[in-house]
Amino acid sequence: MRSLLKSGIRRITRDDSSTDKPVFPRGSHQATVIAVAAAKGGVGKTTTAVNLASALVRTQGLKVLLIDVDPQGHVYTAIKKQVHPGGGALSSVLTDEGGGREVMEITAETAVEGLHITPCDPRLAGAEDLLGTRLGKEFILRDALVTTKTHYDVIVVDCPPNLGNLTINALVAADFVLMPCDPSPLAVNGVDALIGTISTIANRLNPNIDILGLLMTRVDKRNVKLNQAVRAQLETAYGEVLLPVEIGINNSLSQAQMSGLDIFEFDPKSRGAAHYEALAEHVFGLIQG
Ligand SMILES: Nc1ncnc2c1ncn2[C@@H]1O[C@H](COP(=O)(O)OP(=O)(O)OP(=O)(O)O)[C@@H](O)[C@H]1O
Ligand SMILES: [Mg+2]
Repeated sequence: MRSLLKSGIRRITRDDSSTDKPVFPRGSHQATVIAVAAAKGGVGKTTTAVNLASALVRTQGLKVLLIDVDPQGHVYTAIKKQVHPGGGALSSVLTDEGGGREVMEITAETAVEGLHITPCDPRLAGAEDLLGTRLGKEFILRDALVTTKTHYDVIVVDCPPNLGNLTINALVAADFVLMPCDPSPLAVNGVDALIGTISTIANRLNPNIDILGLLMTRVDKRNVKLNQAVRAQLETAYGEVLLPVEIGINNSLSQAQMSGLDIFEFDPKSRGAAHYEALAEHVFGLIQG
């Protein structure tokens, strides 16, 4: 009965498999996928995704793809002067009825050799709703990375500031989650929400997922009391995953984002550049195992 069913499915779907779907050659890499996620907005997710990805290329010599699943498209805005023309819409890959499309179809190269990105795509907002109606909606990004992963060492995914379908897709595709958290009580609450979602995903959808670390961002060294209080609170609750590297508040980082350049191009001698370089070194060590 089961084999009858399977041959029936093959017959029904035969036409579909004979269409002119592009076939992508497999590469020789096997990427580690890092989702940069937080339940709260404005905690430094995009700043971290962009500068970590660039630092992994520049200082660790890796080949990196930076995927923006946030409809706000801030990854592109943050490095638009370094992005070469080309690429397409990620939403077209994620919402394709037939499936079988690859993210590598729509990537664009950048001036940083070895760093590719997915261009900004406001239609991802509509894709978020459309995905909600699809069977297997949580696995669409994971499936669109199967061959793409063989062309990169690391794939960094910048998530929107909520735990909706696009973030869930990123977490299901991820090997690791990096959780930026700024020193504010609201951000600390957001960590709880994200860790709850990650454990549900680990139990039901992606047993492979692990937490890379909780990264304190926008740390103002002058505000010693607040920093100590927040760090102590995070140590108590999440000591095992709290990263020793932290990102200080640094105007060059926000100016770089406004100028459309990564921090290493905008101001390589800044504290921001040094902090993201240190983060890349630490992350490289962690993903090597
Ligand atoms: N370490 C830092 N020092 C100074 N400014 C920073 C730092 N990190 C981020 N910023 C600034 O804070 C703002 C929010 O940062 P970012 O866009 O990275 O956050 P986000 O979590 O991606 O936001 P969203 O939730 O909207 O996606 C931006 O203006 C950015 O330039
Ligand atoms: Mg962002």
